[in-house]
Amino acid sequence: MDAGKGRFIVFEGTEGVGKSTQLRRLRQWLAQRLPPGVLSIAVTREPGGTDLGQRLRALLLDSALTEAEGLPHLTELLLYAADRAQHVHTTLKPALTEGALVLCDRYTGSTIAYQGYGRGLDLALIERLNAIATGGLTPDLTLWLDLDVREGLRRARQRQPEAGELEGKDRMEAAELSFHQRVRQGFAALAAANPQQIVRIDAGLPEDRVSAQIQTAMEQHLQQWYPQHLASS
Ligand code: TMP
Repeated sequence: MDAGKGRFIVFEGTEGVGKSTQLRRLRQWLAQRLPPGVLSIAVTREPGGTDLGQRLRALLLDSALTEAEGLPHLTELLLYAADRAQHVHTTLKPALTEGALVLCDRYTGSTIAYQGYGRGLDLALIERLNAIATGGLTPDLTLWLDLDVREGLRRARQRQPEAGELEGKDRMEAAELSFHQRVRQGFAALAAANPQQIVRIDAGLPEDRVSAQIQTAMEQHLQQWYPQHLASS
């Protein structure tokens, strides 16, 4: 993290691991855990955390855009990077400079896992692009929700379809099983290489127990980040 005094928390994981639900639950828990009026909590996501990003998201997830018809892996990578550059510049850095606690659904880890391990693009190129798009902004904490990919894809198919989906699957979800398995390996490799920054959460447990793991990880960090606010609670 290097943008003012806020704190930046990222949720990562493969398809259908329950990030959105757990992000919402964490927000509610934080609102109760922290003294009222002291900290603002901002919730955002990639791709799609800005006006431009919502348009890029629609393109990126559109099932009508198959690889053969013209979304090569490099183009896909650059579109995710464009979404990130816009998001960091217009949303994340301003919020963090104001001191907000920012909860973000996906960030640079997704590009390493999906475009690097999943698509097979050069990891050094992705690192460089991530550095350019973020201007060096890194999360204070990443919560990696880990789940068997078959189970995740099954869960993803049960949720409400978004625009651009074919047969209940967006363009990324429609990729073959082995792609999603490589993505999971990518997150595992990232977590192994960054044990201080990335916490693995077992997303195969019931929802309440997943939330409890997240709250335990958060509580430790809150005590470090906001000792003065929590002293009397
Ligand atoms: P979501 O459904 O979790 O919001 O994510 C949208 C899709 O975009 C999901 O399949 C993961 C993918 N993605 C990438 O492939 N690379 C990235 O850098 C990001 C942020 C997301």
